[in-house]
Amino acid sequence: MHEWWDRDAPAFAFVRSSRTVTSGETAFMRSIIRFVLILVLALALLAWGTWHVVTDMTQGWFARDIALRTKLAVSGMRHSLVRLWPDASSDMPEGDPAAIRDLLDALTHDERILAAAACSIDGTLVAVTDDYPAVISCEELLAAARSAGADGGWGDVAREIEHQGGPLHVSAIPLVQTMRGPLAAEKRAVDEIAGVDDASQPGARTLGVVILVHDLAFALRREQRVQTIILGGFVVLAAAASIATIVAARLAWRGWTSEVVRFLRGGGQRREFQPILRDVRELIERIGAERALDADGGAWTPARLKHTLTQHLHGERVIMLANREPYVHNRTSDGSITVLHPASGLVTAMEPVMRACSGVWVAHGSGSADRETVDAHQRVRVPPGEESYEIRRVWLTPDQERGYYYGFSNEGLWPLCHIADARPTFRHEDWEHYQRVNRLFADAVCDEAQRDGGGTEDPIIFVQDYHFALAPKMIRERLPKATIITFWHIPWPNSERFGICPWAPQLLEGLLGSSIVGFHTQLHCNNFLDAVDRLLEARIDREHFAVHQGGRSALVRPYPISIEWPNRWAQEVPAAPICRASVLDELGLPADALLGVGVDRLDYTKGIEERLLAVERLLERLPEFVGRFRFIQLGAPSRTEIDRYRRLNESVAAIADRINERFRSGSYRPILFLRAHHEPATVFRFLRAADVCYVSSLHDGMNLVAKEFVAARDDERGVLVLSHFTGASRELTDALIVNPYDLEEASDAIAAALRMPVAEQQARMRSMRAIVTEFNVYRWAGRMLTDAAQLRMRQRLLATR
Ligand code: F6P
Repeated sequence: MHEWWDRDAPAFAFVRSSRTVTSGETAFMRSIIRFVLILVLALALLAWGTWHVVTDMTQGWFARDIALRTKLAVSGMRHSLVRLWPDASSDMPEGDPAAIRDLLDALTHDERILAAAACSIDGTLVAVTDDYPAVISCEELLAAARSAGADGGWGDVAREIEHQGGPLHVSAIPLVQTMRGPLAAEKRAVDEIAGVDDASQPGARTLGVVILVHDLAFALRREQRVQTIILGGFVVLAAAASIATIVAARLAWRGWTSEVVRFLRGGGQRREFQPILRDVRELIERIGAERALDADGGAWTPARLKHTLTQHLHGERVIMLANREPYVHNRTSDGSITVLHPASGLVTAMEPVMRACSGVWVAHGSGSADRETVDAHQRVRVPPGEESYEIRRVWLTPDQERGYYYGFSNEGLWPLCHIADARPTFRHEDWEHYQRVNRLFADAVCDEAQRDGGGTEDPIIFVQDYHFALAPKMIRERLPKATIITFWHIPWPNSERFGICPWAPQLLEGLLGSSIVGFHTQLHCNNFLDAVDRLLEARIDREHFAVHQGGRSALVRPYPISIEWPNRWAQEVPAAPICRASVLDELGLPADALLGVGVDRLDYTKGIEERLLAVERLLERLPEFVGRFRFIQLGAPSRTEIDRYRRLNESVAAIADRINERFRSGSYRPILFLRAHHEPATVFRFLRAADVCYVSSLHDGMNLVAKEFVAARDDERGVLVLSHFTGASRELTDALIVNPYDLEEASDAIAAALRMPVAEQQARMRSMRAIVTEFNVYRWAGRMLTDAAQLRMRQRLLATR
């Protein structure tokens, strides 16, 4: 089954066939049935509640009814009973039990009174009717009545008991003899009106109790009748409500689908359906456009990337956030201003994307003439001479740069994410700077999105690299609808290692402000998800690689980065033989020299020391190369404020000197360490001149030098020796893949490269060039934009539900 994030999933499947309409109806009816079940359940609860209330109420009424009837029956015949009652102090000490029995029999003529009895004050049974149950004890009820009054004296007793014939209600009413004479009669009349008990009257005397037994089966029958009525009412109501709901839903569905079908066939639309049909039309058009684009296929080019941006995201420009600016303006010693292209894989990849898309690149203004070259809004149009986008420069104080860039980013996160010889250092003051600088850049991005008081509420923002882990969330707070695509250019460590960072959860939260978080490899995506799992409260969808948190979702996907193709520098630099001749000439080397080349920022993750040691091992083991093979290392100084980098510079120079000393002869020196910034044209010239290029990174997210070497070799010559620990080794499988720590293996590979027949070189290079042609940086950006477009579409659909 397709899911919405599947690249090939149809976004609005129901427009495709009648079968999908039917399955849509089934799904719709299923939700209606769910609703009906809930409705029936609610009605059942209501009936159950009503049943309880009514039962309690009728039982209360019945109890009060019995009490009243009992009271009335006994008080109606009280004078007769008193007169006939056994009384030792009267002239009839035995009383008249037969006459009392007649009175009691008269009481049982009421169909609800089953039996009656009269008990004297000493607990003996004076008279009893025929059906009186023997289990009802005279003594026990007398004793209970003796203390049942409100003041602890005589009072009425009422009980329910179970008997063979069913439940019985038993009541015992004290028989009280009051004063005699006209005065007493008058007082009794007054008391009766005031509700005063006989027993509380002066001179009153209790003679015993009268017991009445009521049949409760009557009450039960009444209760059952009420329950039957409630149950019947519930069944009728539930059935009627369910049928009405289902009929109404079916009619609504039919009306809706026939309206959509009519619309798809080009018929008119009813006014109430117009807004939603407008959305349907828009979606169909977009899906069609995307299909056409995919069917169109072909190579990813700047034009195709721009088309993706405008057609799929309705974007005219993008906002790029990256610490390093693509063009640095520097003042030279002669007073002029030069433009430098920084040695940065990030710049190599993103600059062509910006040229294709246009927009603004928000970056740290780090050049000595940067301030002089911006306008009043801190912007400068680039590339010089062929302006197509802008750089918006953000200025940092030396303290900010030290804390955010050198400190937290490059002494903390960089070693944290790379398995190389350096421990991460985390300082609280660096973290403070990192947060403040991220806010500064995030604000600049939002200002650019809303520039000139306009802009869109859903701009497309690319956030680059580990310098800005917090920025996506900060941007999201100001621009909730923005499409934020964040790309992490370096490896993501396993979750245990990532947990070393004291602010690991904040970094994850920050990144999850993105719409998409991209890494070079699936392994890094998995590591990221593991870290989220371990450190945050979030739902992880491992099937579709998404994180859901606080009502938002972020996709986590691999997008292996690449370079522009065709490559601008490869086109500008002369053909391979000319490059070779110029390099040999520049370095004073003989025409038959075998050349190896390495190009890097001077960074300890690049394995430059191991590279030189592999060359040494080669010369040690294979003397045939001594005097012929030279390795040229172009090393751009980088992050030299950091001690570990200063030590690396010294160490590389020392190793080069030692090896040169060991193998020197005449003018021959095997290592040429050219420590300086080299412009891309120079780099390409060296790459094109070399017999072998060795990329020996100890850990590298991708490594674009490897791909640049392939781009430079339009002569299909030269061999790439590539570290297994680079992302590039997953794609460039026709390179000689080595473990740079294994000097035997690496030196073997260099030797094999130098001896490789031309035909094999060509075959390998052709295959690698085909890969980079296809998987170029426009495809990289285009895939992210397409995924972002699908995400937007999905979010719009959800918002309209
Ligand atoms: O590898 C990550 C990365 O951002 C590269 O893209 C770039 O080459 C380098 O680090 C940045 O170096 P710098 O610190 O000089 O900007």
